[in-house]
Amino acid sequence: MKFYIQHILMQEQRKYQRTRSMKKDYMIVRDCVSKEILSLCENYFRMKFFVTKDYDQLLDTITCNNNDVVKPFSIFQYADTFAEALLIHLLPVISKTTKISNLQPTYSFVRFYENGQHLVKHTDRPSCQYSITLPLASGCNTDWPIFVGDEQIDLNLGDLLVYKGCDVPHWREKYEGTWQVQAHLHYVDGDDPAYSKYILDNRPDFGVKK
Ligand SMILES: [Fe+2]
Repeated sequence: MKFYIQHILMQEQRKYQRTRSMKKDYMIVRDCVSKEILSLCENYFRMKFFVTKDYDQLLDTITCNNNDVVKPFSIFQYADTFAEALLIHLLPVISKTTKISNLQPTYSFVRFYENGQHLVKHTDRPSCQYSITLPLASGCNTDWPIFVGDEQIDLNLGDLLVYKGCDVPHWREKYEGTWQVQAHLHYVDGDDPAYSKYILDNRPDFGVKK
């Protein structure tokens, strides 16, 4: 699997000359995920959280996590298989957006947000040099902006936000909708000694829990 990723990156490096890394604290890629893939996501996440027992199983593991950044608490899963596939699939576009030719994946997780939750203002751990928020499915059309630094950013399903998670504080006010699923994908610059040691979040391969 690691070899496969290196092959993808080599192809992208031929397309994009390395210039300067992302100057702004964040970038938005609108409609990054196609309508077809969004439809697939809705089916997958509705099954994951409403039909199978994933919700109940995760609930048991999450409720005691008082250090989580979402309050009062929310369901999330580290290295969900579909999210890990997105982590790989979107690597070329994130590499292009950040202008980092040796961008390396670290880890993914998916989070199931529900009415009344908010995201505490925070910065991320070192594996999240470049953090992605990507809304993929929702039970309503209620907007739920994210704040990055001093900016308010509105995202529709399929819009991707990449930001410097370790440097820039980010948060969300109280969610007024019913439910929403977001993928959170994370990458580091493989040529940056301060971050390269976090490649794959120190896991042996994709799809593996930490
Ligand atoms: Fe964060």
